[in-house]
Amino acid sequence: MVSANVVFATMTGNNEEVADLVCDALTREGIVVNETEISQTEFADFQTADILVVCAYTYDEGAMPEEGLDFFADLQSADLTGKVFGVAGSGDKFYGEYFNRTVDNFDAAFEASGAQRGANKVKIDLEPYEEDVERLANFAADLVQTAKKLV
Ligand SMILES: Cc1cc2nc3c(=O)[nH]c(=O)nc-3n(C[C@H](O)[C@H](O)[C@H](O)COP(=O)(O)O)c2cc1C
Repeated sequence: MVSANVVFATMTGNNEEVADLVCDALTREGIVVNETEISQTEFADFQTADILVVCAYTYDEGAMPEEGLDFFADLQSADLTGKVFGVAGSGDKFYGEYFNRTVDNFDAAFEASGAQRGANKVKIDLEPYEEDVERLANFAADLVQTAKKLV
């Protein structure tokens, strides 16, 4: 059975919604999913699943969620060879070059950890709309397809 851990960081709910949509899509694909909030999540527990997903907001012109900094530091020193990862997030296009910078940071850190990118990162503008639901369903399907080749 393929498993997934999905962690989210949110202030106003958008990224929890993004994480919920990813979890729903993964569940429909037959994956056993565990969803948690980042400050409540030990990285050591998070990294045990086959598929690892982060959905997190960006603040203060490119800043990472402060409550996720420990988690991010643990990711930066982890060896995730054999795992499949995906990163999605909601930011605000108003912030231009800083739009969803946290998604870029997590995506790069996962890549450096030796994990395999199972799906291209998904950047959402504010709350997820219908087209985003579809993008996230495709994101989940890609993750599952990659994981099934490895497991
Ligand atoms: C003070 C402030 C700074 C922000 N800076 C950025 C930013 O640099 N880049 C970005 O993409 N979004 C930025 N945002 C927008 C949030 O990331 C966006 O509203 C997101 O949907 C919030 O997610 P949440 O509902 O999960 O908390 C900023 C929002 C606030 C209030």
